[in-house]
Amino acid sequence: MKKIQISPSILSADFSQLGNEIKRLEKGGADMIHVDVMDGHFVPNLTIGPPVIKSLKKNCSLKFDVHLMISPVHKYIEAFADAGADIITIHPETTDNLKASILKIKKFNKKVGVCLNPGSKIDLIIDFLDQVDLVLIMSVNPGFGGQKFMPKVLDKIKKLKKIQNEKNLDFDIEIDGGINFDNCKSAIDAGANILVSGTTIFKSNNGNIKKNIDLLKSQ
Ligand code: DX5
Ligand code: ZN
Repeated sequence: MKKIQISPSILSADFSQLGNEIKRLEKGGADMIHVDVMDGHFVPNLTIGPPVIKSLKKNCSLKFDVHLMISPVHKYIEAFADAGADIITIHPETTDNLKASILKIKKFNKKVGVCLNPGSKIDLIIDFLDQVDLVLIMSVNPGFGGQKFMPKVLDKIKKLKKIQNEKNLDFDIEIDGGINFDNCKSAIDAGANILVSGTTIFKSNNGNIKKNIDLLKSQ
């Protein structure tokens, strides 16, 4: 079994203190940093782009797990690669040529992720599973932190895990949205090995990041 990793989403951080917030995550034992990039078009919210990622990355040794919720995504891949993203995850609905977008991410020597919204089926990515490093399963509709976990996506993770075993593939399975101390075990049991979490990590236990990361790993 793969080691369970925690990828805290900085969407719930104090944006006036972002550099310090990343340091707190690093000290607290985060395995990577999840950066949610939103365009106000594919999702109904706007966040940050390449210049902010570039500045944050300068002072952080952890990998940046960059979740792009922007459409069309293809022409922006290079900018995020240049900014220092280590994993670039895209939604299949945001490109008219998923194969070309995957190849573009690889061309910049970045890890490739593909992401499925709660309503999106595995069929959308099935032909590309042997070409990706990570599959991100959304457990909320993307756009905002602090939403309620949708347990129905656990079946999709189980199905994906089964396909992975049958095809003898090795991609990571990451889950994103509404993860807390009560549901993290069900996500891991279903097959997820990377947990994204914003609200739980930054707001639970008075913002004790180390405690919250340890608790998510040990449930
Ligand atoms: C939602 C984002 C998530 C979200 C996670 O669009 O992709 O990363 O911010 O935050 P919580 O853990 O608060 O649901
Ligand atoms: Zn995300």
